[in-house]
Amino acid sequence: MLLLTLLLRLLLAHPGHSHQVPWTYKEGELDEEHWAQHFPDCAGKQQSPIDIQRRKVKYNPLLLQLELSGYDGPLQGNFTMTNNGHSVQIDLPPTMNISRGLPGLYTAVQMHLHWGGLDLETSGSEHTIDGMRYFAELHIVHYNSAQYSCFEEAKDKPQGLAVLAFLYTVGGTPRLAPSSSLFPLIPAVTLCSSRGQSTTLSSLDIQAMLPENLGQFYRYQGSLTTPPCSESVIWTIFHTPIVLSHTQVSLLEGTLLDSHNRTLRNDYRRVQPLRGRVVEASFRAQTEEEGGKK
Ligand SMILES: *[C@@H]1O[C@H](CO)[C@@H](O)[C@H](O)[C@H]1NC(C)=O
Ligand SMILES: *[C@@H]1O[C@H](CO)[C@@H](O)[C@H](O)[C@H]1NC(C)=O
Ligand SMILES: *[C@@H]1O[C@H](CO)[C@@H](O)[C@H](O)[C@H]1NC(C)=O
Ligand SMILES: [Zn+2]
Repeated sequence: MLLLTLLLRLLLAHPGHSHQVPWTYKEGELDEEHWAQHFPDCAGKQQSPIDIQRRKVKYNPLLLQLELSGYDGPLQGNFTMTNNGHSVQIDLPPTMNISRGLPGLYTAVQMHLHWGGLDLETSGSEHTIDGMRYFAELHIVHYNSAQYSCFEEAKDKPQGLAVLAFLYTVGGTPRLAPSSSLFPLIPAVTLCSSRGQSTTLSSLDIQAMLPENLGQFYRYQGSLTTPPCSESVIWTIFHTPIVLSHTQVSLLEGTLLDSHNRTLRNDYRRVQPLRGRVVEASFRAQTEEEGGKK
């Protein structure tokens, strides 16, 4: 596997040309503390990610379970998977949409991951729950196709985007065995280890990667977690995590390279202040005792 990875790095490294301002998470001139110098929205009042404090979450029985259409697979086609220097991203077909549970129809655009990997900080989810950071986080990005004609048009408009977020844990007591079906992209990740590289997947089964229980989730209004940090996102963070094996995690953490050919790690933004926002839940997230005090 190591040999394969090295060979592919040599053969396939053609970093993409980007005219955007180069930003980073922790190192360099435009690290996350300074994003707002070039991207003013990053200093806004409805930023993401956040720490979800379960004691303060408000139960909303009117939150409908999302209806995901076209997610069940395997879908056949040509799905581009790219290492964009910040994450690994898979472009999704417009046959995938959220047809119920949000204000309007939302059509899928792409999905990508955030993860950790340094010795001291192995976890790299963006959202945390009661301060706890999960191993990784999957984002499935959709745009409001009822109101806008494409992602580019919708991305900075109120309610223009909807992101579904899934948290990953490692090992534990998985209801399903940690298998390739939980995360089929991991073997393919080794095919695009250097920034700007892409590869094509011929088959994709999104539903098989997701937890079975999609009925319990948190909901709040926030932003993109990368520049330009537009405050256009309806966030849904699912309560049931996805379970990965240790092998899958180390493959993910050790394979991708950033624009300086360093291993791409810790690609998550620190949590942002709530500033008066209320996180809602489709289920009773607090304990009975705490709920009784309200
Ligand atoms: C949503 O996706 C389903 C499944 O792909 C499709 O049949 C349906 O036409 C889509 N809805 C709209 C409004 O595009
Ligand atoms: C995928 O792309 C290849 C090469 O461009 C093409 O031959 C093939 O028909 C495409 N497959 C699908 C399902 O679109
Ligand atoms: C990264 O590695 C590739 C291939 O080895 C090389 O072409 C490229 O110049 C390197 N980039 C940097 C910033 O070192
Ligand atoms: Zn993301």
